[in-house]
Amino acid sequence: MAKASKKTSSSGKVPKKGGAVVAQESGSRNAPLINIGIERQDRAAIAEGLSRVLADTYTLYLTTHNFHWNVTGPHFNSLHAMFMGQYTELWGATDVIAERIRALGHYAPGSYAEFSKIATVPDVPQIPPKAMEMVRILVKGHETVSRIAREFIPVAEEAGDDPTADMLTARCTVHDQTAWMLRSLLED
Ligand SMILES: [Fe+2]
Repeated sequence: MAKASKKTSSSGKVPKKGGAVVAQESGSRNAPLINIGIERQDRAAIAEGLSRVLADTYTLYLTTHNFHWNVTGPHFNSLHAMFMGQYTELWGATDVIAERIRALGHYAPGSYAEFSKIATVPDVPQIPPKAMEMVRILVKGHETVSRIAREFIPVAEEAGDDPTADMLTARCTVHDQTAWMLRSLLED
């Protein structure tokens, strides 16, 4: 992981994924240059990782909210309520992730066009699935976001960006726990 993160942070360009430039640097000649002890290229690499985590968290948020609306069947009450708790948590997380990107001197992506280019989590199914299929989709979604977030913890650590590393670690904790709770619904 350490090797991969070095490669990412020393590329000399704003990192790209799938042809989409993410984490565009912000700034103005009227404002002093950002000087928080993290190299410019490292901030770009971290902001790229956070942008991917943001796109996936937002997509998972929307999926969970959609399922809150559209769930049916004998477990309606418990799943409707459980999904509400989960989408509320995810919604709060998007703000924290986006504002960390801003603190690193980059713009936060915040449109469906940008999110669809960089998200790994698939978009919400057009036809609402059965309740337990919804649970299965959410398990996979939480595990995906956890993997993406975990991938970028060493990038933040190597750059000395403890606040981002801590935040991503906290996100992994939430996603792993939520995936476990959802997976338990599917076990006999
Ligand atoms: Fe509601």
